[in-house]
Amino acid sequence: MGKLIDLTKEQAKGYGTGLVKFQHCLRESGLFEDDKLAELIDRTPREYYMITHMNVQGRKMIWRNGDFNGLSGEKVLEAIKTGQLWLCLRGFDKVAPHYHDLMEAAFQEVGDVTRHVKTDRSQTHLLISSPNASVLYHTDIPLIHHWHIRGKKRFYLWEADDKTVLPDETLEAVILRQTEEEIPYDKAWDEFANVIDLEPGVSCTWPQNGPHKVDNLEGLNVSVVAEYFTPQAKRKYGVYYANGVLRRYLNWAPTSTQTEGIAAYAKCALAMAVKKLNLTRAKERDMILSFLLDNQNIGRIIDLKPDQQKPILQL
Ligand SMILES: [Fe+2]
Repeated sequence: MGKLIDLTKEQAKGYGTGLVKFQHCLRESGLFEDDKLAELIDRTPREYYMITHMNVQGRKMIWRNGDFNGLSGEKVLEAIKTGQLWLCLRGFDKVAPHYHDLMEAAFQEVGDVTRHVKTDRSQTHLLISSPNASVLYHTDIPLIHHWHIRGKKRFYLWEADDKTVLPDETLEAVILRQTEEEIPYDKAWDEFANVIDLEPGVSCTWPQNGPHKVDNLEGLNVSVVAEYFTPQAKRKYGVYYANGVLRRYLNWAPTSTQTEGIAAYAKCALAMAVKKLNLTRAKERDMILSFLLDNQNIGRIIDLKPDQQKPILQL
């Protein structure tokens, strides 16, 4: 394959701090067509996938975690095409080296034009979601690089430092993993969201913790999403982690969220110490298995009774 991305140094200036959007041609690899996706699903072990169903309860959308229930990759894809499902496949490096190699090559090209910023990539996943699926308003802890490959989706993005849409205490709870990444949301905020339509072949990254929601518009949606940190993003994580600990465990209301200076470095040290001691682990949330894909009615799900539900082991 030739070049995978079309990103100039000028466009790449805001990489890691701002909204950067450019074109890519990952789909030309052939790895994202139905037959290849079905094969990838078949070879992904339980510890590396998460299938989620979204449904409305009252006025609230609820995310629940499920299991393939022995369905083949082909049938899982069919279920996603007809249901309201969202599948996340992880662990390319162990499970699917050909996907891993493709993404490494794409990120190598990104790295060639973003030498001004040091990035530390952690996880890369493949997301496959139903044509009418939505992702609720939420914030992600790391920086995200989203490669959109198939289908169309509408992405609503808000400012990460707007305390109305993302109060400090909310971000702290997300970072301490005491709440789901879904957070309080008001429909009135849509008026001032940055609305971005993602077409196949668009790649984008946005400011760390920028809250967002996504509505799929058309077709099976397929994207690759990579999580990454820059040194500044790691400090922001450390500062909010420490502020959350101070507020919750030491009854002290922190007022600064500065990521530079001695206080910021001290907070990062505190965050690392607390993480090492595992002091906050007891309050972290578990992922619970609450449904199975229905192997008779493809696209439907079987709800598990409370006594059949159990935690899902993920690596
Ligand atoms: Fe997200």
